[in-house]
Amino acid sequence: MDLRRVREEYESRGLDENDLESDPIKQFKIWYSEIENVGYLEPNAMVLSTVDANGSPIGRNVLLKEIYDDGFVFFTNYKSNKASDIEVNNKVSLTFSWNELRRQVIVKGSAEKISEKNSDEYWSMRPHESKIGSLISNQSEVIPSRENLDKDFVSEKLRWQGNEIPRPDHWGGYKVTPNFIEFWQGRPNRLHDRLSYVLASTGWVIKRLSP
Ligand SMILES: Cc1cc2nc3c(=O)[nH]c(=O)nc-3n(C[C@H](O)[C@H](O)[C@H](O)COP(=O)(O)O)c2cc1C
Repeated sequence: MDLRRVREEYESRGLDENDLESDPIKQFKIWYSEIENVGYLEPNAMVLSTVDANGSPIGRNVLLKEIYDDGFVFFTNYKSNKASDIEVNNKVSLTFSWNELRRQVIVKGSAEKISEKNSDEYWSMRPHESKIGSLISNQSEVIPSRENLDKDFVSEKLRWQGNEIPRPDHWGGYKVTPNFIEFWQGRPNRLHDRLSYVLASTGWVIKRLSP
């Protein structure tokens, strides 16, 4: 597959209001399968932006692991910096950069923990050693050294040898329920298409934004 051709095809075709799904999550799934089909590395990587208690914003990558009909799910440590940010202010944004197709998707919404049952379900699918990694990581805290981390990993691995590891309370998923999603398609001459879905009392309203 010549990726340049695919990209040019999307750039010339652009994004038209008439081609959009009325539900932005359905539209997201269409774009997601298109970026997956070009073999883009980790298309599910997204920048999660939060704001801390002092009003300072920060973004970091997390992986989109599930798409519910009403939101986007990622998994993390419930004691991490991002989790403390969300506790104070659960308004967050997600940014997907799909450069191979000259596309970007931005989501604004609110984050909430998913049910314990749903977190358990995904935890059970994770490889044994990733579970150990999550068990020993006090995510976002200062640690003495790399050696320390490696030692903790080895001793925890020994401890759990031959046993199933239950999900620790400090690990689970968040769902981001959107109230805004923008689909950006790069076009020639910087005349990019930007179509945004804004949640109104009547449902989703689609608006075209200037590039
Ligand atoms: C491509 C990529 C994917 C990542 N996915 C996750 C993830 O799904 N969950 C997670 O907790 N951290 C993930 N990380 C690490 C985070 O970016 C971050 O370092 C970590 O979650 C701590 O963030 P915090 O201190 O702001 O809470 C990922 C990093 C990269 C580069």
